[in-house]
Amino acid sequence: MRQHVNPLSKNFDQIERIPSLNEMFDNSKLNLHLDIGCASGEFLFDLALDNTNWNYLGIEIRERLANSAKLKLLDKEIKNLHFVFGNAHNILNDINSKFIIKNFKSISFNFPDPWFKKRHHKRRVIQPEFINILSNLMKKGSLIYIKTDVKNLFEYMDCTISSDCNFEKIDKKDFNYSTSFNPNKVQTNREKYVLANELKIFENIYIKT
Ligand SMILES: C[S@@+](CC[C@H](N)C(=O)[O-])C[C@H]1O[C@@H](n2cnc3c(N)ncnc32)[C@H](O)[C@@H]1O
Repeated sequence: MRQHVNPLSKNFDQIERIPSLNEMFDNSKLNLHLDIGCASGEFLFDLALDNTNWNYLGIEIRERLANSAKLKLLDKEIKNLHFVFGNAHNILNDINSKFIIKNFKSISFNFPDPWFKKRHHKRRVIQPEFINILSNLMKKGSLIYIKTDVKNLFEYMDCTISSDCNFEKIDKKDFNYSTSFNPNKVQTNREKYVLANELKIFENIYIKT
């Protein structure tokens, strides 16, 4: 059975710093997308091979999964992909991350851990303080994507992001996916499972105004 890790544990106080764009990518000028909670990176490997005109960064709190993604990357000649291990909150709240956050064209939260019990909600990856950090640093026009099969989590995430006056919900009917980080709508592992089981997916896109 999959084990959750408690993001509030002191184990994550020591952070792995995000290297400079030049250290991470062959062409640091490409559009940059961040996937938070990327697990062992399959989704990002598929995306990086599919869209060589984007750079992709994944952050994952479970060390075994992050290491597995890093090892796979060493084996492959993929120059537009990088993985960092740790709690996204601590990594992105680091003084050195500020420059990187300004460079994100988009960020995705795909099927985050739901932490169903109310007393565990503070462990959810989307928190008001975290959204505030992103809201202060992301450039105008950059995007946040959320996706989940848990309605209650979706409502919580939507309320948290919408409460930040810098983010506005986009009408998905008018959204042009072809210029997004995922033009071919590549699916994450959880998404494949959810679709195979005919469960409902809730998703939203927000723009920094
Ligand atoms: C339910 S899984 C979804 C994995 C993948 N995004 C997908 O859609 O298949 C959620 C992932 O987020 C990671 N995660 C949870 N909290 C995190 C945090 N604060 N920082 C980084 N990763 C986190 C978990 O370890 C797990 O791998």
